Amino acid sequence: MSILELPFMQGYIRMATDGVNMGWHERNGGNLTYRLTDDEVEAARPYFRDAKPWTDIGVTVKNLGGSYFLATGTGKFLRNVQLEPQNNVCIAQISESGDQYRIVWGLEQGGAPTSEFPSHLMNHSVKFDAANGRHRVIYHAHTPAVIAMTNVLELDDVKWTRALWSAMTECPVVFPGGVGVLPWMVCGGAEIAKATSELMKQYDVAVWAFHGTFASGESFDTTFGLMHCVEKAADIYMRVQAAGGARQTMCTQNFIDIAALFGLTLPEKFLKD
Ligand code: 13P
Ligand code: ZN
Repeated sequence: MSILELPFMQGYIRMATDGVNMGWHERNGGNLTYRLTDDEVEAARPYFRDAKPWTDIGVTVKNLGGSYFLATGTGKFLRNVQLEPQNNVCIAQISESGDQYRIVWGLEQGGAPTSEFPSHLMNHSVKFDAANGRHRVIYHAHTPAVIAMTNVLELDDVKWTRALWSAMTECPVVFPGGVGVLPWMVCGGAEIAKATSELMKQYDVAVWAFHGTFASGESFDTTFGLMHCVEKAADIYMRVQAAGGARQTMCTQNFIDIAALFGLTLPEKFLKD
């Protein structure tokens, strides 16, 4: 038995590989973090080595104190995660005070967690409270259609949510809360982390203009599926634009009917034609 055979590790590796196969992770683009359950920490603990020194996160995530995260390394290529997980990902423990981390496994040839670790952890922190601890996965991908769409559609939550919902009937079912959109910001720091986590209080998806997408979810399957659905809807939107624009489209009543069928509550702000 090896730590690499544990189911959470297998699920993580599969998701990273699936993202690569979708074309979302050029070079070191994108990153993935997963918050381990207590049972998973105990299953992995025999493989932990001497912990690396405590390091400042740059933000404070008090409610995640003592948690363990599986995270991609900064500068690491997601395409290499499957080949050598031990050199491209790490397990990091968060200090009880929530402002530091230390690597307890992985990145065996050196390195640090993703530069977006502050954003990931702040999103985990917000989602921990908003979803009563159910959300465990935060995923950042360089999704081409979403990035293209940030060049043509006003960077506004209502406009984006309506455009994506209208692209494909399943969208309001998959992300009934809608999507949030951020203007361009410097990546990798505390400012974009704070702005993204503000959006994550309401949404499971945050779009970074001219950069990519953040998604939060309970499992690898649902989080990957959410990213896939948003990116596919953006691709359809862009194809329609390239074909000269929509001649007809879904209307508010269509969304109300979908919500009734699936027992969903759609925010009022998205229900205006
Ligand atoms: P990392 O290599 O630090 O994970 O950065 C990649 C990225 O997508 C930055 O937004
Ligand atoms: Zn990025």
